[in-house]
Amino acid sequence: MKVVVIGTGYVGLTTGVALAYLGNQVTCLDVDAEKIAKLKKGRVPIYEPGLPELLEISRTNLQFTTSYDEAGIESCDVVFIAVGTPSLPDGNADLTYVKAAADALGPRLENAFTVVVNKSTVPIGSGNWVGTLLAEAYTRKKGSQPGGNYAVASNPEFLRQGSALPDTLYPDRVVIGSEEPRAIDTLTNLYRPILNQDFPAPAHLPRPEGMSAIPVVTCDLASAELIKYAANSFLALKISYMNEIAHLAEKVGANITQIARGIGLDARIGPRFLQAGIGWGGSCFGKDTSALVAIARDYGMNMPIIQAARDVNYQQRTWVVDTLLRELKILKGKTIALLGVAFKPNTDDLRDAPSLDIAQQLIQRGARVRVTDPVALENARRLYPDLGIIYCEHPAEAIMKADAAVLVTEWPDYCELDWAAFKEDMNFPLVVDGRNYLDRHELEHKGYRYIGVGR
Ligand code: UGA
Repeated sequence: MKVVVIGTGYVGLTTGVALAYLGNQVTCLDVDAEKIAKLKKGRVPIYEPGLPELLEISRTNLQFTTSYDEAGIESCDVVFIAVGTPSLPDGNADLTYVKAAADALGPRLENAFTVVVNKSTVPIGSGNWVGTLLAEAYTRKKGSQPGGNYAVASNPEFLRQGSALPDTLYPDRVVIGSEEPRAIDTLTNLYRPILNQDFPAPAHLPRPEGMSAIPVVTCDLASAELIKYAANSFLALKISYMNEIAHLAEKVGANITQIARGIGLDARIGPRFLQAGIGWGGSCFGKDTSALVAIARDYGMNMPIIQAARDVNYQQRTWVVDTLLRELKILKGKTIALLGVAFKPNTDDLRDAPSLDIAQQLIQRGARVRVTDPVALENARRLYPDLGIIYCEHPAEAIMKADAAVLVTEWPDYCELDWAAFKEDMNFPLVVDGRNYLDRHELEHKGYRYIGVGR
């Protein structure tokens, strides 16, 4: 099929490259000329494992442009709108970029039947709203009613940064919502190789063993839109639930890691997303839980469970500071090393990263904060030059003469650090393991005071 993807962020670029790999002719469009220039040279502007390689393999099926006129929208089968929908101060999603995309698309949708897909996470009702914008944009430009040769669909994505490609090629399910059977058919056909799992797996992204057909959920627009918010909020809730239990575990002398295993083996609960720690960050959980609360408010409803998940999450960041205060008594003039600045491993994304909140709280209390990260340091330096954080290339630099080391992001590199040598370099051998990731016994054996979350 001929596919246009608007927006080359994590979602758009991954979707575009994966669909090109599957044999579709894909044009990725972005208003950011710098990004498009990089992509044209085969360079990927974000850090996402496996993406540069898949882009290279799929290059003959891929085009990149900043121009709606050059994107071939008039003759394409499917257009994905995958632009950013950041949070507004009131919690609602900012739909400026979605509107700009719909305005540009509207007048161009007149020849082939085209499905316009909301891939960005958008509030309930956005499918209808985009349909209206497309029609209005058409009329504004052409002075007549649109021919109506298009339909709007919602196809939420469930990929995680850091494993975006395996999540796209080997998903748990595909959700397609539309009031138009033609749109559902077109998208089901587009996803057929993924649904049937009959495409040759890329060598660097092998198919998980035992993977067979993928379920597809077809539904109306509003249900698809709400599935996305409900899924992210549920995952966020699962993590906050474990963090709440972790605090109780700490009080009663229980171990949250064993509790997670003990409850996760119950098939009704499942083992994933039960990892206690300093909580979730990233561009999705915070934004989507706040949007869901705001959407419900519009209908006169409170969402106390989701609100509680948010409150617990953001308190986790203060837990780090409280723990350091308890252990070190005075933070003024002390040096704290933060290992990891990205919101999770395998990404260079800093959106809503716990590291930045923790660093700011510590700096406000007079501590010197050194931060290191194997991949995201450059972004941190560029985006936050004025926070007063000292950026260090190597963990050894960050830890030298520090009064505590806090593991913020569970990068595998941090398990392999020479903790025995570091102990001699630190002012005080305190490790706060914000992800319950390090080997407690090994660190204690080496003479460290180790504090994890709920164990
Ligand atoms: C999340 C969802 O997992 C995806 O399904 C969804 O498509 C995506 O949001 C989105 O809406 O775009 P993502 O934010 O990339 O994906 O990353 P996750 O792996 O979900 O991690 C989110 C945060 O939760 C990270 O800060 C991670 O450290 C934290 N986390 C995750 C925990 O604290 N405990 C866990 O058990 C799992």
